Amino acid sequence: MYDSGKIILGLIIFVGLFTSPIWYDLASGKAADKPNLVFPTKEDQKECVNTAEYMREFHMDLLNVWRDEVVRKGVRTYTSNTGKHFEMSLTKTCTGCHSNKAEFCDQCHNYLGVTPYCWNCHVEPHSAEIKR
Ligand code: HEC
Ligand code: HEC
Ligand code: HEC
Repeated sequence: MYDSGKIILGLIIFVGLFTSPIWYDLASGKAADKPNLVFPTKEDQKECVNTAEYMREFHMDLLNVWRDEVVRKGVRTYTSNTGKHFEMSLTKTCTGCHSNKAEFCDQCHNYLGVTPYCWNCHVEPHSAEIKR
């Protein structure tokens, strides 16, 4: 189901992210843009739709699965690893919790030079105050 090339690339990136503080120390450069993630703090938002390790590595694949389930099969409910139910929606679910793109998604993506094109169509969240 997963493309092994992507998994390997993902693992390389994951290991890179995981050990990046070490590289930074070695690389004498200014560690200006090291990801600084802001996580949801509300009581009912303290658990992601899967483990942090899984999300770090596979959220892009999960989003593709979600899109296909919704768009091709009309299935909208996802059961998390802890048995909670979530609507498979980028804007209602992911950014419902991770409500500031600049302080979360962009932190990693800018650091890695990845620019997902999703926000060409999907509404981009700007702050925790955004109403859904
Ligand atoms: C109910 C709130 C909630 C929802 C919905 C949610 N997240 Fe999360 N997410 C969290 C929390 C809280 C963490 C930190 C979990 C931890 O550290 O154990 C997290 C962690 C992550 C991480 C790992 C970050 C890191 O390096 O530690 C990624 C990536 C991520 N989420 C992306 C997503 C995406 C993409 C979606 C939608 C498919 C999503 N999240 C949906 C709350 C949520
Ligand atoms: C912990 C760091 C991290 C966080 C936080 C994070 N991402 Fe990512 N994201 C990545 C990595 C690494 C990739 C893989 C880049 C690649 O494969 O080229 C990626 C890729 C993606 C892709 C695929 C892009 C492409 O062009 O292939 C999407 C979509 C995506 N992320 C969505 C999100 C969303 C939405 C959020 C916020 C809710 C988020 N990500 C938060 C690290 C992160
Ligand atoms: C050309 C416009 C466009 C782009 C670009 C786009 N989407 Fe979508 N997406 C849609 C439309 C239209 C739907 C169908 C909405 C529905 O049926 O609820 C959809 C549905 C989805 C869904 C399921 C429903 C929901 O509410 O989220 C997910 C998940 C999703 N897209 C993820 C992504 C991700 C991740 C990216 C970037 C890698 C992306 N989309 C890029 C137009 C787009």
